[in-house]
Amino acid sequence: MSAEADRAAPTTDHLAVAWDAAVATVRGNIADFTAWYPDDTTTGGAYRPRSARDGQPEGANVGWTTGFWPGMLWLAWEGTGDDAVLRAARHQVDSFADRVTRGVDLDTHDLGFLYTLSCVTPWRLVGDERARDAALAAADHLMVRFLEPAGILQAWGDLTDPVQRGRTIIDSLMNVPLLYWAAGTTGARAYRDAAIRHTEQLRRHILRPDGTTFHTFYWDVDTGEPLRGATEQGHQDGSCWARGQAWGMYGFALGYRHVREPSFLDAARRCADYFLTRLPADRVAYWDLVFTDGSGQERDSSAAAIAVCGLYEIADHVDDQDVALRYRTEADAILTSLATTYSTAHDTTSTSLLRHGVYDMPKNVGVDEGNLWGDYFYLEALSRRLRADWRSYW
Ligand code: GLY
Repeated sequence: MSAEADRAAPTTDHLAVAWDAAVATVRGNIADFTAWYPDDTTTGGAYRPRSARDGQPEGANVGWTTGFWPGMLWLAWEGTGDDAVLRAARHQVDSFADRVTRGVDLDTHDLGFLYTLSCVTPWRLVGDERARDAALAAADHLMVRFLEPAGILQAWGDLTDPVQRGRTIIDSLMNVPLLYWAAGTTGARAYRDAAIRHTEQLRRHILRPDGTTFHTFYWDVDTGEPLRGATEQGHQDGSCWARGQAWGMYGFALGYRHVREPSFLDAARRCADYFLTRLPADRVAYWDLVFTDGSGQERDSSAAAIAVCGLYEIADHVDDQDVALRYRTEADAILTSLATTYSTAHDTTSTSLLRHGVYDMPKNVGVDEGNLWGDYFYLEALSRRLRADWRSYW
């Protein structure tokens, strides 16, 4: 580290305290979350069992967010070596293997979020063969969603759904690492080719010239022609949904990690540079970047947590060490704000790690609550900052 970087390096004592508090909450959730899967977000600060739906009982492994729980367990185990946490993490493989075998709620691109954390990670960390097989089955399901000639992975719905046909969303960048892993583990290039095509299409069309992003974008599935951008969870079609921008920062940077395509790193930096210009005084973004201090709108702490991981990832890849230091310093400032003001470290009644997230403001779902992905990426951000040897799950 240069003398200048050394002087700038802040103490991490407060983050170590935050990590201990977060892991204590994870440990405290093990008994309940082994019996049932929590809902996407808290209700009044506490997680409840996932609601029964589509023929699945209450607390079943459905939806896009259940993998964040095993992800938290693996982070907690790596950081503590606690056998009870390891047992809980390994136990999760049963449910995810069963889900992919029985075909429960698989019509989604979110297989990447779900199976990278629940199954690729135990394969990598403890050599669990059943987890590897389940992750490969999930990657094969994801490949079915790759649409030619558009060159994109359809995000939502079954492939005949007229509303969702040809639509992808920026969040999907976090799902393609499952395909890079499948290519690496099987040697089959098709997974990797699809991942690169999809990322390139998003770079060209979902990333706008000013460094902002659309949440979603439609392609003509017959001609492959790009059609139009639109939002689903942002304020307006033309505004910039904060979490989408954070998914772009981290997702494009991970694309660069896997294929070393410079335009992917450039895309990640453009997303990051815009995101950083829109942060309020306490560095935790409002739910849409159109809003700033004085707007009276809600923050999205989960967007902030994802952005921290994205900034650390970008910093790992930029050659110019002054630029890398700037991204790390920005990440540290956001993470410090989360740890000191947004975490539940001093609140024994909350079962989330972070407060003040927003799931879907237009639909009024999970507003000013904790959520599973915010918790996961907050714990990942702390792991990245506190453990130089932490190896990415993505
Ligand atoms: N991937 C869905 C969301 O960020 O809300």
